[in-house]
Amino acid sequence: MTIHIGAKPGEIAETVLLPGDPYRAKWAAETFLTDVKMINEVRGMLGFTGMWQGNRVTIHGSGMGMPSLSIYVNELIRDYDAKTLIRIGSCGGMQANVGIRDVILAMTSSTLSTPSSGIFKELNFAPCADWSLLEAAHKAAIRKGATTHVGGIYSADVFYDERPDLNEQMTRHGILAVEMEAAELYNLAARHGRRALAVLTVSDHLQTGEALPSEDREKSFGDMVEIALEAAFS
Ligand code: HPA
Repeated sequence: MTIHIGAKPGEIAETVLLPGDPYRAKWAAETFLTDVKMINEVRGMLGFTGMWQGNRVTIHGSGMGMPSLSIYVNELIRDYDAKTLIRIGSCGGMQANVGIRDVILAMTSSTLSTPSSGIFKELNFAPCADWSLLEAAHKAAIRKGATTHVGGIYSADVFYDERPDLNEQMTRHGILAVEMEAAELYNLAARHGRRALAVLTVSDHLQTGEALPSEDREKSFGDMVEIALEAAFS
């Protein structure tokens, strides 16, 4: 047990999928895994371990934003020795050629700050995805027929951003999409020598104002879970 995770030693798999929403973790575990056991419910942050095609997997909520994700990923790595960590989540599209439902694979993520900024001081550390995971996820996404973009994203600190100029600069510099967690996941994976990737679905678009209808969210989320699982075990 850690401060925020109630799992006993050995109850968390080496491969961990991290949706922001704990109820998405429950849904994904019940839909895609067998022999599922709930291994955490501290503060309502649900985590489940089960089997996928002969492989042991944990699906655990990260919460919203980098400070929340940082707590769980630190404990998953340092106390439970998680080795492969894949964020599965939604993002807001920032380019005209990025459409609703498209899959984004984040090579790297820009930020204003992360919980790791204190370490880097004036250095702008460029956190990046694990290449083997990125390559395998790209192949899996193409196999599924998903319109897929690979490139830089932006991990924001603020959902209700009062600074439209910042989003404009991100768009101008080719950033594909905005979310709120990937950069810190990549920082922590780099620091501890682990593999990390963010597989995202575009749920809304900052320029067009379009949003994924709620009835489509489950299907898009399911595709992401399968892409992440195929990448982790390829
Ligand atoms: N901003 C930040 N995070 C998000 C968004 C957004 O527009 N959409 C999905 N996650």
